[in-house]
Amino acid sequence: MKRYILAITGTTGGVLGLRVLEELLRHGEVHLILSRASMPIIREETGFTGDKGSEIVESYLFSKESRKEVRDMRLIFHDEEDLWAPVSSGSFRTEGMFIVPCSMKTLSALSTGYADNLIIRAADVTLKEGRRLVISPRETPLSPIHLENMLKLARAGVRVVPPMPGFYSRPETVDDMVDFIAGKIIDQMGLDHDLYRRWR
Ligand SMILES: Cc1cc2nc3c(=O)[nH]c(=O)nc-3n(C[C@H](O)[C@H](O)[C@H](O)COP(=O)(O)O)c2cc1C
Repeated sequence: MKRYILAITGTTGGVLGLRVLEELLRHGEVHLILSRASMPIIREETGFTGDKGSEIVESYLFSKESRKEVRDMRLIFHDEEDLWAPVSSGSFRTEGMFIVPCSMKTLSALSTGYADNLIIRAADVTLKEGRRLVISPRETPLSPIHLENMLKLARAGVRVVPPMPGFYSRPETVDDMVDFIAGKIIDQMGLDHDLYRRWR
């Protein structure tokens, strides 16, 4: 079974990461890390409750009627402080990693290799092993520091996919926009999906 790492960090729009998670579970095993900062923001913006990241995620997936037996088999939670987790090592093989959404703090730590939590360590490992790393940095407006960090990472081969909606797919709801952005992010791992209508 293919393995993916997904991290959700503390920016507005955590629901984008949850939508990517829902889709990734169709494709394989997902190692999920929620940053401390992400949890209260997801609770505030979505209304999904829970003290632990796993509870918040479960209530989101439950609302989407995702099948529990699939989750039990494929979804593995890791604490961001747990630097002993398998995804901390390059010898643990994965297809790659997503950080959706990616805060400017995590972006800057990544661009300097300052790996003091599991999210940044796993991303650093993904990069050093030459595996696909897809990030969706979220901030607006962007300072020159944010832009320089993104450019540095893009030059190192990281796929930088900011959460920017497209309008050619004629979105009618916020969910349509979330799906469009999640689809563009997942495209970068070369996975099939029906999240948005492609231009013909
Ligand atoms: C409600 C709220 C919204 C935030 N939105 C953003 C954001 O859109 N982008 C960003 O870079 N930081 C945002 N932040 C700040 C980050 O949460 C903060 O820098 C944090 O240290 C990020 O840590 P993490 O990358 O480990 O999740 C927000 C904070 C709060 C409380």
